[in-house]
Amino acid sequence: MSPQNALLREIPRRRDHHTHGLRVTTATHLTTAAPSVTDPKAPLELAAAQRPGADMHSEAIDRLTRVCEFRDDDTHHHSQRIGRAARIIAEAMGLGTDFGALLEQAAPLHDIGKVGISDTILLKPGRLTPEERADMEQHTLIGQKILEGGTTEAVQMAEMIALSHHERWDGNGYPHGLFGDETPIGARIVAVVDVFDALTHERPYKRAWPLTEAVAHIVAGAGTHFDPAVVAAFRTVDPCDLLGGCDER
Ligand SMILES: [Fe+2]
Ligand SMILES: [Fe+2]
Repeated sequence: MSPQNALLREIPRRRDHHTHGLRVTTATHLTTAAPSVTDPKAPLELAAAQRPGADMHSEAIDRLTRVCEFRDDDTHHHSQRIGRAARIIAEAMGLGTDFGALLEQAAPLHDIGKVGISDTILLKPGRLTPEERADMEQHTLIGQKILEGGTTEAVQMAEMIALSHHERWDGNGYPHGLFGDETPIGARIVAVVDVFDALTHERPYKRAWPLTEAVAHIVAGAGTHFDPAVVAAFRTVDPCDLLGGCDER
């Protein structure tokens, strides 16, 4: 069995555990919410019926983004910042405003697979063991499974980004070790802005890096970790814009 298939075989066991937890939570929620769900005049039901389909899709994605932030709580709106920063880089690369808008919507879901990672690993205030790191890396495959089969461009792009945002330009990333532009451009952009945002904010296992050090790290990673073209675009924009203002750090 290839390592890739071994990783895929791991997913059902882990997801089954969490699916059980979610099922219990949902059942409890439905019990308490039953009156409004069955009442045809309930405000939420009426609002949903009157809302155009596109808005409903957009709202669903926005709410999934909130799920991501609850799961990665310490990152202070990390998911939303990633969407905005990815759009800024895409537009700086000349990929167009339509692509930028799509990326802004899809990129915040990059870590949705973390819903399948245990708190012991996700919130560990220290370095992960090799075994824990292997488990953590599965958030890419779990995220892809959560989003696969989407019918909108935004969900399809989100699936691709969830799967591939930890691939590296030099082929040493995960989960599939894609090389260069085998990784789709949306994921190559998110790879840069995700690392930049993570470096400039405190995490359970590290301090926030000064802005200049974080910029230097991204620039040094061109051609190894990151797509040189994405880093070139990164260098043309104000790094504070990527963070939603430098006073946020
Ligand atoms: Fe990730
Ligand atoms: Fe992230």
